[in-house]
Amino acid sequence: MRLTDEQLRDFDEQGYLFMPGCFTEEEVDVLRDEAQAIYASDRQEVWREKSGAPRTAFAAHTYNEAFRLLGAHPRLVGPVEQLFGEKLYMHQFKVNAKAAFSGEVWQWHQDYGTWARDDGMPEPRAMNIAVFIDEVMPINGPLMLIPRSHKGGVLPAGHDKQTTSYPLWTLDQDTVTKLAAEGGIVAPTGKPGGVLMFHGNLVHGSAGNITPFGRTIVYLTLCAVSNHIRKPTRPDWIAHRDFTPIEPVADDALLAYARSRRAMAAE
Ligand code: SIN
Ligand code: MN
Repeated sequence: MRLTDEQLRDFDEQGYLFMPGCFTEEEVDVLRDEAQAIYASDRQEVWREKSGAPRTAFAAHTYNEAFRLLGAHPRLVGPVEQLFGEKLYMHQFKVNAKAAFSGEVWQWHQDYGTWARDDGMPEPRAMNIAVFIDEVMPINGPLMLIPRSHKGGVLPAGHDKQTTSYPLWTLDQDTVTKLAAEGGIVAPTGKPGGVLMFHGNLVHGSAGNITPFGRTIVYLTLCAVSNHIRKPTRPDWIAHRDFTPIEPVADDALLAYARSRRAMAAE
């Protein structure tokens, strides 16, 4: 898959691109089932809200076949390779739950702020790709973005270790107020299978989920190989040290896997 000139222009101006319908229902269903099984497991990679509900599962592409295939999917890897003009490796891989009734807030932040400060990543040449596994609605804690906020580089931030179970370099209210006055705030919503790509410096966050509707989103962070991290401080299952270039799988690999799982279940 290649981005059009218009998509490239939009991305440069706004700092994000939303592409509905990138994955089919059949492909997404298997990812949803696998995510639930991972959340039900007892592994160090699964972080929980204070309530015990799952918040995020790290590195699922290293221990789950469906997520391995997603992590090397040409529909995700292709556009980012095109943008950076080189091969990519996986810097981080998260399956974020935002669980029904109990999913908590993600405070306003820039991801590259964390990659630079905590992992020693030289440049913001890494991209977040969000794959919607559940329907993302205005009511179930969608990701909110401040358009054009990627233009100002890395902004001053404080290390918040209190608000949630996830330590994050967060922005203060004055900064967010100023950026939102300039760019507004958007919350792309849509059916499972939609893909949202956003710049490492784009300011984003999300509110809690008090609805009965879970909002699972998978986040791949694809980094240009030459931009690999230099000074990691976090465990290797959060900030990966394997800089091997990703070789994309076949476009139908996830679909074939989903079908084989269904056939096995029917036996
Ligand atoms: C993130 O910013 O890394 C996650 C936000 C979310 O899943 O709502
Ligand atoms: Mn983030």
